[in-house]
Amino acid sequence: MGFYAKYVLPRAAHFLCSAKPIGRQREKVVPLAEGRVLEVGIGSGLNLPFYAAGKVQHLWGLDPSKELWARAQQAVAQAEFDVEFIEAAAEEIPLDDGSADTVLVTYTLCSISEILPALGEMRRVLKQGGQLIFCEHGTAPEEAVRRWQNRLNPIWKRVSGGCNLNLPVPSLLKQAGFKIRAMDTMYIPGWKPACFNYWGTAISS
Ligand SMILES: C[S@@+](CC[C@H](N)C(=O)[O-])C[C@H]1O[C@@H](n2cnc3c(N)ncnc32)[C@H](O)[C@@H]1O
Repeated sequence: MGFYAKYVLPRAAHFLCSAKPIGRQREKVVPLAEGRVLEVGIGSGLNLPFYAAGKVQHLWGLDPSKELWARAQQAVAQAEFDVEFIEAAAEEIPLDDGSADTVLVTYTLCSISEILPALGEMRRVLKQGGQLIFCEHGTAPEEAVRRWQNRLNPIWKRVSGGCNLNLPVPSLLKQAGFKIRAMDTMYIPGWKPACFNYWGTAISS
């Protein structure tokens, strides 16, 4: 792993994901998580303060980046539930079928290289009737913004460590076999190509 990926990207990801508008999105979705929760792409643990402590029995935080996880330690110490870090990628989740009541994913789908296999894994580990809770940025509703997303994506992906600007979030969820139960969308304040948000809940169909 090069210097940029090891030192620069984790700092940049933590800084960008700490933005206030993103915090307001976290407030909307993270407290919905309950039971045995798998957070996919836990990163630097920015969701930890937003969990409803009384509702969470156990949290598995999965992420391939130890460097980002190292930044989560203060939040882990303050959590009122067990937190277990799993160093792995979403494409191969080392948990049994049906072991999670909730899978939570925020601002992570854009960075996963094999998105459909990864969503398939999230379905597999969810118990029957369990919920996928998501909040992601993705493809914009206006043609003009979408054009910029498509144009800038190759370069953006290289500098941001693999983040896609133009992810069609709802159609990917459906393609992976999820049924969306509730979903909201809006631009959060910031750079338009990266700021159209989709958030809601889905179950295995
Ligand atoms: C923009 S950060 C978001 C972190 C965190 N979810 C948040 O909301 O602050 C993207 C995260 O996706 C993780 N990631 C990248 N590829 C992944 C994969 N294949 N499986 C799981 N997580 C992945 C990165 O390590 C990083 O923590």
